[in-house]
Amino acid sequence: MRKVFVIVFLFLLVEAVFVEALNPSLNDDVLGLIVFKSDIQDPYKKLKSWNEEDDTPCNWDGINCNPRSNRVTEVVLDGFGLSGRISRGLLRLQFLHRLSLAKNNLTGSISVSLAQLAYLKFLDLSENNLSGNIPGDYFQQCGPLRSISLANNKISGQIPESLSSCVTLASLNLSSNQFSGMVPSGIWSLNGLRSLDLSNNLLNGEIPVDIQGLSNLRALSLGRNKFMGEIPDEIGGCLLLRSIDLSENSLSGELPSTMQKLSLCSEFILRRNAFVGIVPEWIGEMKSLQILDLSENNFSGHIPTSIGELESLKVLKVSRNRISGSLPESLSSCVKLLELDVSHNSLAGTIPKTVGQLKSLNILDLSENLLYGIVPVEIGGATSLMELSLDKNSLTGEIPSSVGYCSSLVSLSLSHNSLTGPVPEALAKLTYLQSVDLSFNKLTGVLPKQLGDLGHLSFFNISHNQLQGELPSSGFFNTISPYSVSANPSLCGAAVNRSCSTVMPKPIVLNPNSTDSSPNTVPQSIRHEKKILSISALIAIGAAAVIFVGVIAITVLNIRVRSAAPRSAAAALTFSGGDDFSHSPSTDANSGKLVMFSGDPDFSTGAHALLNKDCELGRGGFGAVYRTVLGDGHPVAIKKLTVSSLVKSQEDFEREVRKLGKVHHHNLVTLEGYYWTPSLQLLIYEFVAGGNLYKHLHEGSGGCFLSWNDRFNIIIGTAKSLAHLHQKNVIHYNLKSSNVLIDSSGEPKVADYGLARLLPMLDRYVLSSKIQSALGYMAPEFACKTVKITEKCDVYGFGVLVLEVVTGKRPVEYMEDDVVVLCDMVRGALEEGRVEDCIDARMQGKFPADEVIPVMKLGLICTSQVPSNRPDMGEVVNILELIRYPSEGQDELV
Ligand SMILES: *[C@@H]1O[C@H](CO)[C@@H](O)[C@H](O)[C@H]1NC(C)=O
Ligand SMILES: *[C@@H]1O[C@H](CO)[C@@H](O)[C@H](O)[C@H]1NC(C)=O
Ligand SMILES: *[C@@H]1O[C@H](CO)[C@@H](O)[C@H](O)[C@H]1NC(C)=O
Ligand SMILES: *[C@@H]1O[C@H](CO)[C@@H](O)[C@H](O)[C@H]1NC(C)=O
Ligand SMILES: *[C@@H]1O[C@H](CO)[C@@H](O)[C@H](O)[C@H]1NC(C)=O
Ligand SMILES: *[C@@H]1O[C@H](CO)[C@@H](O)[C@H](O)[C@H]1NC(C)=O
Ligand SMILES: *[C@@H]1O[C@H](CO)[C@@H](O)[C@H](O)[C@H]1NC(C)=O
Repeated sequence: MRKVFVIVFLFLLVEAVFVEALNPSLNDDVLGLIVFKSDIQDPYKKLKSWNEEDDTPCNWDGINCNPRSNRVTEVVLDGFGLSGRISRGLLRLQFLHRLSLAKNNLTGSISVSLAQLAYLKFLDLSENNLSGNIPGDYFQQCGPLRSISLANNKISGQIPESLSSCVTLASLNLSSNQFSGMVPSGIWSLNGLRSLDLSNNLLNGEIPVDIQGLSNLRALSLGRNKFMGEIPDEIGGCLLLRSIDLSENSLSGELPSTMQKLSLCSEFILRRNAFVGIVPEWIGEMKSLQILDLSENNFSGHIPTSIGELESLKVLKVSRNRISGSLPESLSSCVKLLELDVSHNSLAGTIPKTVGQLKSLNILDLSENLLYGIVPVEIGGATSLMELSLDKNSLTGEIPSSVGYCSSLVSLSLSHNSLTGPVPEALAKLTYLQSVDLSFNKLTGVLPKQLGDLGHLSFFNISHNQLQGELPSSGFFNTISPYSVSANPSLCGAAVNRSCSTVMPKPIVLNPNSTDSSPNTVPQSIRHEKKILSISALIAIGAAAVIFVGVIAITVLNIRVRSAAPRSAAAALTFSGGDDFSHSPSTDANSGKLVMFSGDPDFSTGAHALLNKDCELGRGGFGAVYRTVLGDGHPVAIKKLTVSSLVKSQEDFEREVRKLGKVHHHNLVTLEGYYWTPSLQLLIYEFVAGGNLYKHLHEGSGGCFLSWNDRFNIIIGTAKSLAHLHQKNVIHYNLKSSNVLIDSSGEPKVADYGLARLLPMLDRYVLSSKIQSALGYMAPEFACKTVKITEKCDVYGFGVLVLEVVTGKRPVEYMEDDVVVLCDMVRGALEEGRVEDCIDARMQGKFPADEVIPVMKLGLICTSQVPSNRPDMGEVVNILELIRYPSEGQDELV
């Protein structure tokens, strides 16, 4: 350092005497550079080679000399990490052609008048930290300067008027400073100027008609200033223009038609101004266009068909205008297109199938328009697509699986449309996918599990759809935001805070080859779920309300019927035996018809029971049941139908009842006969002593609770009865514990089967309100108009019954401020590994766990939300027998 000071001291005080005496010209360069060095900080020691003791600087880093004269012609110190000020020392470098100090951290103002250097052609001080004003006369003595760049500094004030003295100037780059005011008019007459970049300053005023003076101009960049007014027609005179960027100003008016002469122009950027009028048809004349950005203006009209003539076009952006009409098919001729953004306009019509021909397309943004119709299958042809945005349109139909061929896709947005159908599994093939927005559509089905394998996923929004089942549980889906999955009432998984059942579609896997006997675990892979807790709760609550109304109506009916019934019942009885039914078609309300399938003749003695409240056994959705004794002394139960106004015609009624009368099974309460008048119908059943299962489970008096063995017998007997009914094509429709009677030997006998057949139609309202009235037993498909009701509704009811028998709890329990749905409770407990807590405590632990737990799982499987996922009753019986007698095989219940 001391040496530097000495040199500088010498330079300043005795240069004329001492230095020039030795070797004047040579040491001018050394000393000039040493002085320059002394004014700056060089933290990276880039100027280490600059040694003041050298005779010549020609070997110093960043310095070039003319080999013949050995004078410094170039100082290029770009990116040396230098800070400090630009020193006057540089003025000593009289033969300097090029001074480039770009990409450093030089500060202070440009006060040293570098333009004085007689040979300086290239001056680049860009990307520093220079500030202050440039004096107006700074370039007064402008030599042969061809290129000036002061870009990316903090220089303020006006652009110096004296720049117009630099008549040889070809390139002027003042971008990204704080220049303000108008552009000095002299600039527009720099005829040699090829590139003018004044972008990103605070310049104002209009683009003058003088612009035609810049007849050599290739690149004009005035973007991000405050220019106003219209583009002058004269711009068409700058025939060599290749790039025009006027973005982010306040320019207005229409595009001057003279611009069509600019056939060399490849970049035309007018983004974010206030241009109006149509996108002119002549745009097709600007044949070299590669980038056309008219976005964020006020253009109207259509996208001209002539756009197809722009065969070099790579980027077309017209977003955020008022463009209408449809996307021209001719776009498919722009085969080099990389980016097409027409979002936020009023485009209507369908998405042209020809989109698929744009093999190079990276970005397609058609969002926020009025497009309708489907997402064309041909989209799969756009194999380079990285970003596809079709959101906020009115698209319908399914998401085509062909999107799986867009193997470069990173971002997919289809939100706010009316898309239906499933999320295609093919999405899982798109390994680069990062962002998927499918929110606000009408998508259904289960999300493909494989989506969890997408390693780059960081956003996946499916909110506001009708998706169902379990969310993928791996990868990104572990941490998915609840806001990305909300408003899909049937989705389950941690993110939606709704637990999935532990069951799978075909949950019982009997693998005779397996030696592993761990029946208590349900493998993760088969956890599969399509359920809705809230819907079953809703149905339960809805049904409760309907039942209440129903009970009142039935009571009123009863009062009316009771007064007329006994007389007619006793008055005209016709008898029939066996299957040989006698028909006495009577339309008289006072005459009735009695049919006993077994041929028992003496019914009349029992008629009194209908009036005798003491003989009433109970009431159900269909009516009251009374006990009476026939003439031969054998007791029967008589059910008086209280839905008579809904009952079918006599003919239909008799046909259905006879059919039920033919169903015989050890575990079914036998239908022994019936009585019919237009206003009163009775069904005569076998009498079963011992009460019903409901009473045994929930009202039983202390001490006589059912053992596990009793319970298992009841479950398997009930299963067999249902299997038999289904074999005979009879759906029970109304399985519940109060319809399972227990005879004196503890055998279950199922009652009330098939009564829905007596109604004129299987009206869902009637079914759900009158028949499947018992809370909690009702299969979810009763709530869904589009799902056919099959015998699987009985399997559901059976599943609930199984859980009820094992846990001793009602299907729906009302707590103080909560409704507990039994199967959800058990399912939750199983998931949490504490299913044993659910087992009826009254059994006092006296049960084999290897029976109880598989039975509970079976119950859960039977209560699968999707009917086809439930086993049929035949399978259920087989499984129960396997659980009871596993010795018969090496079979395993998984
Ligand atoms: C640039 O220089 C200024 C002043 O000399 C200093 O404060 C700042 O840290 C420097 N920045 C860098 C990136 O070197
Ligand atoms: C510019 O200089 C200022 C202070 O002079 C400093 O704070 C800032 O970091 C510098 N900027 C750069 C990019 O070096
Ligand atoms: C002006 O300089 C900036 C910064 O170095 C650069 O990014 C820009 O491309 C230049 N403009 C032109 C027209 O060359
Ligand atoms: C666009 O043009 C219409 C009429 O031509 C005018 O009403 C509207 O204000 C303009 N909008 C903007 C943002 O300039
Ligand atoms: C998902 O989309 C919905 C609707 O567009 C939005 O409300 C929600 O914030 C989005 N989720 C996330 C995580 O951004
Ligand atoms: C999830 O549900 C439980 C119980 O309903 C509640 O306590 C919890 O706060 C919920 N969590 C979230 C994230 O909503
Ligand atoms: C059981 O083993 C037999 C013969 O080893 C094989 O053919 C059969 O597919 C196996 N069954 C299952 C369910 O694995």
